Amino acid sequence: AAANLKNRDELMFSYKGIPYPTSFCSPEAFKALESFEARSDDVILAGYPKSGTNWLSQILTDLIAISQKKTLGEERSGNAEEPEEFPYLEVGDPEKYERMIKLPSPRFMVTHLRPENLPTSIFKNKVKILLLIRNPKDLATSFYHFSNGLAALPSYETWDDFFTDFVSKKIAWGCYFEYLSEWNKYVDKENIMTVTYEELKENRALGVKNIAAFFGIPLTEKELQLVVERSSFQSMKKNSEKTHGAFGNIFFRKGAVSDWKNLFSEDQNEKMDKMFEECLAGTKLGKKLKY
Ligand code: A3P
Repeated sequence: AAANLKNRDELMFSYKGIPYPTSFCSPEAFKALESFEARSDDVILAGYPKSGTNWLSQILTDLIAISQKKTLGEERSGNAEEPEEFPYLEVGDPEKYERMIKLPSPRFMVTHLRPENLPTSIFKNKVKILLLIRNPKDLATSFYHFSNGLAALPSYETWDDFFTDFVSKKIAWGCYFEYLSEWNKYVDKENIMTVTYEELKENRALGVKNIAAFFGIPLTEKELQLVVERSSFQSMKKNSEKTHGAFGNIFFRKGAVSDWKNLFSEDQNEKMDKMFEECLAGTKLGKKLKY
């Protein structure tokens, strides 16, 4: 476990009390992000790591492509006249936000940040935000496997070691329970729509329909079916070498609900329930999250 802690401290830095991986983020970029000017027609997906952000990114980029009458699946072809930026807002170099000024609308971005760490222009300009949340136990399970699969994140010898870090605010992007209770303060705003990983697993067609309606994107039945088909776990996994290169297998692991039952001890289960109660009992997001 000692080697594992060293590994963690070398790979992360802290900004405003929250740990982030040095390979993806920097204090300089965070500083530059503060003055980022959001546009009212930006499309933002907010979700903590491992909540299914790649899944919803695919759905949203398909919906945007449909709204622009483009052919689905061709938007990543690297058209030189339409420069692209890595959609994860806080990931990249500090000059990224200057370059983003030149991107055509609608710009699509994803963020793992809490609302208080996002640029204030997002809320001032009432940018529409899709907030994605996932059962914390499944999210922790997913994060554990991901952390061990990606060199940029600490590796853990045992699940117990990871669990300890997860509940003591030591993993990348900080404590998920705090993340949820911060976002809970925003869920009533008209520009925010919340979806759960679990409801999307249950009925993808309904989820996609509601998301399209929220962003004001009309869909024919055929277009809806196409987006639904393209966003199945099997189809995204099959396509993952093309979309995610060598990381395909790490991002599309199992795609299931309740996988936490394979890892959690009874004690860990109780501890997580207690933390959930303390942070989220009776809140809107708390009620939406299924266990
Ligand atoms: P698991 O590790 O539980 O399989 P993120 O994209 O935020 O990193 O989240 C990754 C999680 O979303 C992984 O969870 C991954 O398998 C799951 N996921 C990705 N695409 C999915 C899809 N089309 N349907 C269901 N789950 C998906």
